[in-house]
Parts: sequence; C-alpha cells; structure tokens
Amino acid sequence: MWVRLRFVAAFHISVILFQALCTLFCSYLIISVCVCVYLESINKYSSLPTQVVYKTNDDQVTVIGAGVTLHEALAAAEQLKKERINIRVIDPFTIKPLDSKTIIDNARATRGRIITVEDHYYEGGLGEAVCSAVVNETGFTVHRLAVSQVPRSGKPNELLRIFGIDRDAITQAVRKVLSSSANAK
Ligand SMILES: *[C@@H]1O[C@H](CO)[C@@H](O)[C@H](O)[C@H]1NC(C)=O
Repeated sequence: MWVRLRFVAAFHISVILFQALCTLFCSYLIISVCVCVYLESINKYSSLPTQVVYKTNDDQVTVIGAGVTLHEALAAAEQLKKERINIRVIDPFTIKPLDSKTIIDNARATRGRIITVEDHYYEGGLGEAVCSAVVNETGFTVHRLAVSQVPRSGKPNELLRIFGIDRDAITQAVRKVLSSSANAK
C-alpha cells in the first residue's frame, strides 16, 4: 500500500512537472514569436545592427539617438515633418564598436550635420563616440544633447524635458543647426 502510494505520488509529481515544463515551453515559444514579430516590425527600414530608422530623400540633419532618446528623435522627426523639415534618424545599436561607415555615409547625405542625443552625461557616451568617428571628415558638425545636471528623480517625460533631451529639445536643436548653417552661407 505504502509503495503504491509513493508510486502514485511520484507519478503525480512527474505529471505536474511535465505540465509545468510544457507551459514554460509554450510561453517561451509565444514570447519568442512576439519578439520576432516586434523586431521585424521595427526593422522594416533597414537591418540590424546600425539602423537608419527614419529617412527621406531630402534630409537636412542626421539625428543619432539610442533607447529612449531614439524614441524622442522619431517624435521630433514627425513634428519637424509638419514644418517641412526632414531629418534622418539613426539607431547606432552599439557604441563600441560604432558603425562609423553607416553614420558617415548618412551624415554626408545631410551635409555633415549631426545631432547626437543621449540620456547620459556628455562624457564617455554616444556623442563622444560619434565625434571621434567623424574627426577626419571635412565639413562635418556634431551638435550634442546630453545630461549635464545632477541626476534627480521624476517622471520619465519630465526628466527628458528638464535635461533638454526630449523631442522639443531635438526639434529646437535641428532648427538651430539649420539656421546657423544658413547664416554661414
Ligand atoms: C584620422 O586620421 C588619422 C591620420 O591619418 C588616423 O591615424 C586616424 O586613425 C583617423 N581616425 C579616424 C577615426 O578615421
């Protein structure tokens, strides 16, 4: 009787474990498929790693952002489009190594005008990496937006605005870069 009970208990435990494994495996499959579909949807303009995520035939400035600032750059692109200013938006994917060629080729199409936006300090980030990548290019200008203040807590949107790295800061920077290069002519 005891042996039989133990056998039944072991059998039940195996069934439960098996079901748990199946559930995990199914979740894994579902999540993988969702992630693939999502990556495919955000990947329609170009391929990984460095992506040109927004592009027209008449881009005036190349904006390079990563993560949340990439999202802000895309919102800025939508806003500027209403003002008939087109910008190119690049997601570098990694800073080290940096895909200098893609950045230089695209920035050349926008007359060397680059704006970098990062949710970090100026030191040791995206802006510095881009500056060193284009150091030998003639006629390139890099305008950097980054965090210069002491970090504080707050809502994400508020912080982006306070630190001057949100969509409005980007649209302003684009207008500024364009007006200063118009004055230089
Ligand atoms: C810039 O030019 C110098 C001298 O030719 C070279 O040593 C350096 O590697 C170049 N840097 C880049 C980022 O192309």
